[in-house]
Amino acid sequence: MQLAGLKLDSPFLAAPMAGVSSPVWRLMARQGGAALVYTEMVSAVGLLRRQPQTLRLMRSLPGEEPAALQLFGADPEVMGRAAALAAGLDYAIIDLNLGCPVRKVRRQGAGSALLDDPVRAAEVTAAVVANAGRPVTVKLRLGYDADTTEEVVPGLVRAGAAAICLHARTVRQGYSGQADWEAIARLKSWCPLPVIGNGDAKDAASANAMLAATGCDAVMIGRGALADPWVFGQAADLWAGREPGGPSAGERLAAYKRHALKALELGGQRHAVHFFRQCLMNHTKGRAGAPSLRRAVGMAADLERLMALADELFERLEREAA
Ligand SMILES: Cc1cc2nc3c(=O)[nH]c(=O)nc-3n(C[C@H](O)[C@H](O)[C@H](O)COP(=O)(O)O)c2cc1C
Repeated sequence: MQLAGLKLDSPFLAAPMAGVSSPVWRLMARQGGAALVYTEMVSAVGLLRRQPQTLRLMRSLPGEEPAALQLFGADPEVMGRAAALAAGLDYAIIDLNLGCPVRKVRRQGAGSALLDDPVRAAEVTAAVVANAGRPVTVKLRLGYDADTTEEVVPGLVRAGAAAICLHARTVRQGYSGQADWEAIARLKSWCPLPVIGNGDAKDAASANAMLAATGCDAVMIGRGALADPWVFGQAADLWAGREPGGPSAGERLAAYKRHALKALELGGQRHAVHFFRQCLMNHTKGRAGAPSLRRAVGMAADLERLMALADELFERLEREAA
């Protein structure tokens, strides 16, 4: 399928998630079948100041392409300059964050605060489009406490956006309550751009249900992919009329370990421990059993120890499930 000028293998995309969507996580999501991966949100101001923390977020790895770089900021001129700086990188798409509900971001007038000012939102988009040298997509929420997409999106379309991703929750909702899929269908009914639906596509079945219920062009999966990075491939299987496949527990553990070693190479011990611990915690979240082992995973400080604990943990879970 075609989206924002890209040819994608399926309509299932990996959501940008701060603290999660590292290059290694994105690589794992791509191997799990994600058709397109996003960086976590990157500060335009941080990029212009070449802050080491920001530059770290912009690294990419061979094999994760196609990938989108997500920028956030409030000032059209700053955002335009940041997009120009990012133009030399290997990202197929620049995505703009118009959805972040975090107070620190909103206070700068960035993220979801731009939804309160449709003129500025369009100016920011136009500035990025003029400088990015590649398709620019926009990810937004419904509005502060009601659906304001009809006021905001037309300006983004005129500014040259190539696709709109709607996380169908208000800013006030945060991550609670249900995403309003009817709002995605409404947007799709009049928006001339491809619409990416987002919110509560938790697994292969619900991702396909979102496509069917809303008519959207693609579905972005966030938290569902934390628990199961192979959800994208399973969703694509269903979409193509195949029986959803997926790796065994042993193959999953092997993939987590392989990627943890890549994280070690890329970012050292701390990064690798954070990544691998996150994989293990997300994998076991909501499952009964092995509480003391999971506590030990939470406390282990080096990768070698975590690897040993992971073997024990998977073995125990397998035994308990049998
Ligand atoms: C831990 C976490 C970090 C997130 N960080 C970002 C981000 O950096 N940029 C962004 O646009 N959305 C971010 N989001 C929102 C997700 O991209 C997505 O819109 C939201 O989780 C709803 O999708 P889901 O129901 O499939 O999880 C984040 C969500 C989570 C859970």
